[in-house]
Amino acid sequence: MSKNIESTLVENRIFKPSKEFSKKARIGSMAQYQKMWKESVEKPEKFFAREAAELCWQKKWTKVLDWKCPYAKWFVGGKLNVSENCLDRHLDGPRKTKAAIIWEGEPGEKRVLTYQQLHREVCRFANVLKRNGAKKGTRVIIYMPMVPEAAVAMLACARIGAMHSVIFGGFSAESIKDRALDSGATIIVTADGGYRRGAVVALKKNVDDALKAKDTSVKRVIVFKRTGQDVHIEEGRDVWWHRELEYVDANCPAVALDSETPLFILYTSGSTGKPKGILHTTGGYLLHAYMTCKYVFDLRDEDVYWCTADVGWVTGHSYMVYGPLAMGATSLMYEGAPNWPENDRFWNIIEEYGVSVFYTAPTAIRAFMKWGDQWVKKHDLSSLRLLGTVGEPINPEAWMWYHRVIGGSRCPIVDTWWQTETGGHMITPIPGAIPTKPGTATLPFFGVDAAVVDDNGKELGANQGGKLVIRKPWPSMLRGIWGDKARYKETYWSEFKGYYLAGDGARRDKDGYIWIVGRIDDVLNVAGHRLGTAEVESALVSHPSVAEAAVVGKPDELKGQAVVCFVTVKTGKIANKELAADLKKHVRTVIGPVATPDEIRFTDALPKTRSGKIMRRLLKQVAAGEIIKGDTTTLEDLSVLAKLATAED
Ligand code: PRX
Repeated sequence: MSKNIESTLVENRIFKPSKEFSKKARIGSMAQYQKMWKESVEKPEKFFAREAAELCWQKKWTKVLDWKCPYAKWFVGGKLNVSENCLDRHLDGPRKTKAAIIWEGEPGEKRVLTYQQLHREVCRFANVLKRNGAKKGTRVIIYMPMVPEAAVAMLACARIGAMHSVIFGGFSAESIKDRALDSGATIIVTADGGYRRGAVVALKKNVDDALKAKDTSVKRVIVFKRTGQDVHIEEGRDVWWHRELEYVDANCPAVALDSETPLFILYTSGSTGKPKGILHTTGGYLLHAYMTCKYVFDLRDEDVYWCTADVGWVTGHSYMVYGPLAMGATSLMYEGAPNWPENDRFWNIIEEYGVSVFYTAPTAIRAFMKWGDQWVKKHDLSSLRLLGTVGEPINPEAWMWYHRVIGGSRCPIVDTWWQTETGGHMITPIPGAIPTKPGTATLPFFGVDAAVVDDNGKELGANQGGKLVIRKPWPSMLRGIWGDKARYKETYWSEFKGYYLAGDGARRDKDGYIWIVGRIDDVLNVAGHRLGTAEVESALVSHPSVAEAAVVGKPDELKGQAVVCFVTVKTGKIANKELAADLKKHVRTVIGPVATPDEIRFTDALPKTRSGKIMRRLLKQVAAGEIIKGDTTTLEDLSVLAKLATAED
């Protein structure tokens, strides 16, 4: 890995924060950032104790950090409640009547929930959860459209110490079932349906299918009425959200929880076929979400902040719900697609609500670029003051377009690198302090000791490509993989002693800026969504016609990576267009639309090493058209390539 990488950048300008921005920012100079960063890694206990004092604790901690690698405990002995920090503490002053959530439904409905109203809804729903058997530690699955009730359900769990596990609406019935089985959830909160690009997504039907076999521990399904479509209600198992509210009052004290109480499990893809339940806990997670909103988004009371991520991803957790609400900010939530009813829906929303901080993904930015500037120019975006991006490396062209066309060449861009596992931003510009370069997430956030190392764990010099590691614990780090201690150690902590292995390749330039190259494991990043190649492979081989499958990524202009599947069929089965279409459908059914293959390519054999390992590197080249050109469903004789390659081994 440690070969010199020549800079291939076409764009090498540096964008310094404007004097005007820096003057108002919480951190207004590089010197201030450096001083704070130094303290945060050299004296983390002092640094984080000071920051944590800004949260509301029902009991103060006795020790900031207890670190026995790879197990961290933050704010040991401290007690707090995330929902109290996000709601109750804002009710004493002017924030009481401030908008906490501004919601826009895809068909165009609008709702505003003030902090007081949100607090009331959360208390009532927490009582509904209790009425339906939820207690401290109960796992509650939330499978909801992007409606305020998704946030209400999350905060209600936090209020009583139940753990939520949000499942993105683009996952299938089987994915829900797997997650229900793995987490041992007893309650599912869902909706009849949701709107997406003018269509209705049948959420409740997916839950029904997931629970058909009755092998999960789910006892109760609480259904929010969103679309009003007909749904099956299973007597004794399913209840309506609105009916349940009739039985409860709005009185529900926030339970004092130990700082290390689990807050949520969020499933994400790894390099095996089985998604990992990433576990986050209370105090450290909340602090990091809060601090990054404070320093990276530099959120102010007067901001209208919009994170376009779905609540089913970690970005929705940390930067639509917990971080902004802990700051007492106004968080905008939109239910649907960016191009519905037309390509300017986002710009329309920004103009209408006066959005000032906007956080989205490179894949979306590339789509906006493709749709054209004319959609943007129809709207007044002068309310924007700061832009953010997350999810995958942003190509400098997209960065420049974002800067120029959306940001009017005046808004700083924070390109934030982080992961489900890290809970919050790890490498990111501090907008009033750190000059930005298109395509790099720049420097580590406070407390983050990031390094790029070679295969022996030795730190590399400038512009040498290697593996990204974090050398110290940080407050919002994952505390484990639900139910799988060994996998936690093995995946993140075994390659280099004492270092967290991020799974990304990176290099540091001469200014110490970190450039993320992409995943180094068998994980794809498709439109900013993480997808394990092994997951798609196991979905494919579960089809009766498939003998073997290998899945790789191929560069894609819009999505970053496209999913290419090489498939061999069982004897007697015919590899044709119909089967290819059927396989795509099958993957959608097994995992969800989120994993839909872009190409199915049939082959007589897969290229393997002598020891039987599939040669992915070769397949990637084939997929990218570097070795053989071939259309979808063409039959390829990869065995020839395999022979050639093994001969060279
Ligand atoms: O490869 C990195 C990429 O997304 C991965 C994490 O995916 P996930 O856990 O789904 O979380 C996405 C939202 C935090 C990382 O390992 N990634 C995320 N942000 C960036 C990025 N790659 C480059 N630059 C980023 N800003």
